[in-house]
Amino acid sequence: MAKILVTGGTGFIGSHTIVDLIENGFSVVSIDNHARSSSYAVAGIEQITGKKVKNYKVDLKNFDETRAVFQENPDITGVIHFAAYKAVGESVLEPILYYENNIFGLINLLKCVQEFEVADFVFSSSCTVYGNPDTIPVTESSPVKKAESPYGATKQMGEQVLADFTKAIEKTAVILLRYFNPVGAHPSALIGESPVGKPQNLVPAITQTAIGKLPKMMVFGTDYPTRDGSCVRDYIHVCDIAHAHTLAIQYLADKKNKTRCDIFNLGTGDGVTVLEAIHTFEEVSGIKLNYELGPRRAGDVVAIYANNNLAVKELGWKIKYGLTDMMKTAWAWELKIKEAEEKVKSN
Ligand code: WQD
Repeated sequence: MAKILVTGGTGFIGSHTIVDLIENGFSVVSIDNHARSSSYAVAGIEQITGKKVKNYKVDLKNFDETRAVFQENPDITGVIHFAAYKAVGESVLEPILYYENNIFGLINLLKCVQEFEVADFVFSSSCTVYGNPDTIPVTESSPVKKAESPYGATKQMGEQVLADFTKAIEKTAVILLRYFNPVGAHPSALIGESPVGKPQNLVPAITQTAIGKLPKMMVFGTDYPTRDGSCVRDYIHVCDIAHAHTLAIQYLADKKNKTRCDIFNLGTGDGVTVLEAIHTFEEVSGIKLNYELGPRRAGDVVAIYANNNLAVKELGWKIKYGLTDMMKTAWAWELKIKEAEEKVKSN
C-alpha cells in the first residue's frame, strides 16, 4: 500500500485530502505543528474513515525534526505539501512571516525528499500566481504575473523552486495544483475549515457572522468593474479539491505525467461575485446576513476563475459539488462547531 506524507494534515484541505486518500486505499502519515489548525481534525478523520492517522507535531522550519519523520517512515512513496500560511490580506501586513514559513518550510521538506528519494510530490499552489489576469478564464499557460500579495509571491517562488528541483533531481516528479477558492466542509460535518482568530476568508466570515460569532462582516469593495461591483472568484468545494490530490498522486505513481513538473488548475470554471456568494448563503440558510459594503482590501485581484479542462481530461477529475452544496456544508460545519462549544460550556 502506497504511503503518503501529508504536510499540513490537520488543516482545512489537508484533513479532507487525508480522508479521500484513505478512502482510496492509501496509507497516510501527517506533519502539522497546529500553528493554524487543531488536533480535532485527527479525531474527525478517524470518525469518518475508521483509521487513526499519525500526526507528527513538527514545524517544517525545524529541519532535524522534519528529517526524523522521513527516517521513521522510509516507506513514504509520495508527499502532498499543504503546510503554509494562506491569507492574502494577512500576508500584505506580515510579509516576513509568510516568506519565512512558506519558503523555508518547503526548502527543508525538499532536502528530505531528495535524501530519501521520494518519487512523487504534489504541491499546494494557488490561482494567486496569475495575479490580476488579463483574460479569464485562466488556463495553466496563462502568464504568471507579478503577485498581488506576498502570499501569492510565496506560491510563485515555490513553483520556481520545484521546477528547478525536478530539473536537477531525476528521482522525483512533481505536480503543481493551482487551487482557486476552496470552501465548504465534509458532508459529515466532522471536519471543516477552522480559522484561528478572525476569519480572513469569505465563507468562514459569512458563517461566523450568521452564527453570531462576528457582529457583522464587510464586503471589501463594491466599485470593481464586475457585474455587481464586488470581486469575482471561482469557489470550489474542498472535497472536490481533496479528490483531485488523490488523482494527482495516483497519476504520478502510474507515471502518466507528461513532464516532471505538470501543472493543473483546480476550479469549477464558474465565476461568482462576493455578493452572489452571500445571497446564495442567505437562500441556503434562511438567514439574512448582517454585512456592510466597505472599501477594497489590499492584495485582492478583481476577477479570476479557472479553465479546468486539463485536470478534467488528464486526471479524470469530476466536480461533484455546486455553490449551494458549498454553502450548505459550510453552514452545517459552523452549526456543529457551535454545538460542540455549547457542550463544553455545559460540562
Ligand atoms: C474572496 C473574496 C475578498 C472576506 C483565497 C485564499 C488563497 C487562495 C486564493 C488557495 C475577496 C472578499 C473576504 C471578507 C470580503 N486559495 N471578502 N469580506 O483572497 O481570493 O484568496 O483564494 O490557495 O489561499 O485565501 O479569498 O476568501 O479571502 O476573499 O468581501 O470578510 O471575498 O475581498 O474579494 P482570496 P478570500
